[in-house]
Amino acid sequence: MYAIIGGSGLAKLSALQNTRRRVMRSPYGEPSGALTFGRLADREVVFLARHGYGHTIAPHEINYRANIWALRELGVQGVYSVATVGGVRDDLGPGTLVVPDQIIDYTHSRKSTFFEGAEARVTHIDFTLPYSAPLRARLLESARAIGEPIVDGATYACTQGPRLETAAEIERIARDGGDLVGMTGMPEAALAREAGLDYATLGVVVNHAAGRGESRQAIKLEDLESVMRETVTRAVRILEQAVRSAS
Ligand code: HPA
Repeated sequence: MYAIIGGSGLAKLSALQNTRRRVMRSPYGEPSGALTFGRLADREVVFLARHGYGHTIAPHEINYRANIWALRELGVQGVYSVATVGGVRDDLGPGTLVVPDQIIDYTHSRKSTFFEGAEARVTHIDFTLPYSAPLRARLLESARAIGEPIVDGATYACTQGPRLETAAEIERIARDGGDLVGMTGMPEAALAREAGLDYATLGVVVNHAAGRGESRQAIKLEDLESVMRETVTRAVRILEQAVRSAS
């Protein structure tokens, strides 16, 4: 069984059939919401809304540890994460779907490891390649199989939020080599690695990042809704194909 973590614009996976919900608790507190089990493309999957089902949990308030712990506890084969992002690179405009291959973490003060506390041994995970190569490949193949344009590879810069960035911050991210900017990619990806879960992200670009393209003067939040809806729908089709094609 695969897990799907839905971000903004994907609080409910309406394509899921025969759904059942299960409330789980973890040693780290409560996940963002009940886990929803159901069938996608006739395969069993479990879905979790990262921001809660009513979109009430801000990026810096998400209990990433509880979410990943719950998925680990269920013994999922892998995790597909859907993340809405801003495009830093000019060619990554609204409506683009991207499978990032790198991360830069600008977050702070988040509970970002399972390996802490009196009883925990000091543990360092390898994170050279932060995403699972097989799951990335499956997302890319799935998009191609259904004729959805997709970008292979980008560096996801994760900011603290909840405010959007200044133009100067985006300039710095671009100089650092960031291509996309979002607020939830970390510590989620690192915790998945700590938990031994295969994890990959499908990035949904909903705006040009601050100071770039149409966002030169401001990010027009009121414009994001429609592009988000349309692009997330395409992302779900890719996930359906990814789940269908899994052995
Ligand atoms: N910045 C950070 N997070 C985001 C953005 C952005 O421009 N767009 C969507 N999520």
